[in-house]
Amino acid sequence: MSPRKTSETPRAPSSPEGVLEGRKILLIVTGGVAAYKAATLARLFVRAGAKVRTALTDAATHFIAPLTFEALTGERALASLWDRGLPEIAHISWSEWADLLVVAPASADFMAQAASGEAGNFALATLLASPGKALFAPAMNSRMLSNPATQANILRLREQGHRVMSSGTGALACGDTGQGRMPEPGEILFHAARALSPPRLAYKRLLISGGSTLEPWDSIRFMANRSSGLMGVELAHAAWLMGAQAELVLGPMAVEPRIKDMDLQVHRVGSTMDMLDALQTRLKDKDALFMAAAPADFRPKEVVGGKIGKDSARLTLPLARNPDILMELSKGKDKAILVGFAANPAESLLKGALEKLQRKNLDYIVANPATGESSSFASPDTTFKLIKKGGRVALSGTGSKFSAAWSILVTVLGHKP
Ligand code: CTP
Repeated sequence: MSPRKTSETPRAPSSPEGVLEGRKILLIVTGGVAAYKAATLARLFVRAGAKVRTALTDAATHFIAPLTFEALTGERALASLWDRGLPEIAHISWSEWADLLVVAPASADFMAQAASGEAGNFALATLLASPGKALFAPAMNSRMLSNPATQANILRLREQGHRVMSSGTGALACGDTGQGRMPEPGEILFHAARALSPPRLAYKRLLISGGSTLEPWDSIRFMANRSSGLMGVELAHAAWLMGAQAELVLGPMAVEPRIKDMDLQVHRVGSTMDMLDALQTRLKDKDALFMAAAPADFRPKEVVGGKIGKDSARLTLPLARNPDILMELSKGKDKAILVGFAANPAESLLKGALEKLQRKNLDYIVANPATGESSSFASPDTTFKLIKKGGRVALSGTGSKFSAAWSILVTVLGHKP
């Protein structure tokens, strides 16, 4: 369920895959061993609610059959310009039908032909009729990939408005190890979702924190909390899908970002002091900070080297107070919008959140119940209220953390505080 609207916010998808619901994707499969993974990709697109047609090059049909894609997608899969079963001029009507073309795997040969505007087979002709509408997932031997000719073709495709993903690194079909693996189908799905999301946050530079912090008391033991880190990760996913540049500062957490890409810079930290340090140095050039982490408020006063034995005379652990990161950051704040997340008992949700908004000098605070049935801790869903400086509730809702993250980002960055 998407968060309920209390102001002008667009409908939020419930998951990154939800962006693809009802969208039309033309999957182009070219010749390469990775063609078998294109079947998994077709399946992921269909599961996400997209309509998928497939175009295969002649080389691709040596690795996988059109019938595989017809069975998986319930739509036609074509390998020839001369297919007699279609009444219309298919390369034109299919290019008009598709919201996005996804070329996976994209061979060196196919990219070279596409970059030069060749149209000698059905897939190329459809691509030529779809300027700037394709996402390429290259797969080839690493020397073929690093060859200046291939790199020049990638550049040309990008200049023509297409998107070209970075290939993965690892074992290649030829036995070599290096860069050239087709990006994993799940990653291609994310990039397709990004290509189809309106770039509402283009040029925005965001800092996002997430997870717990870890406060040691000897060399192997520590205090932490149950924050899963999911809210921070979903904020990063939603921000990236809407075209923002997001930097993440993450403490220990149970989940991992699903985008393994240069676009998302991830910095790992341990203690609350480390998190303060990492955020302080990165806030200067940012438009906003979303402080979804749950930093520990206390740390053991003393950290003992080695392991404290169980027969130790010390059975109490003196604590020291940690700095409040948001309060420290709001002191030297320049232009960045500061958004806090307040976990409070359900009975005093609004009162507690408002008090934190004022005390920490924030622009917005997201109030979540910390206890009870609607508690967001360790849950994929959340119930929240987004409160603006001054006390107005700008948005409230119950739903997935992804949809909450999406709506919060749009509301905060679409309106000046
Ligand atoms: N926060 C922070 N530094 C801390 C503790 C919390 O910056 N040392 C931030 C959190 O990341 C969150 C907001 O402050 O965005 C509110 O956190 P919360 O745990 O609800 O409040 P506390 O200030 O820790 O107060 P209390 O634990 O008494 O509820």
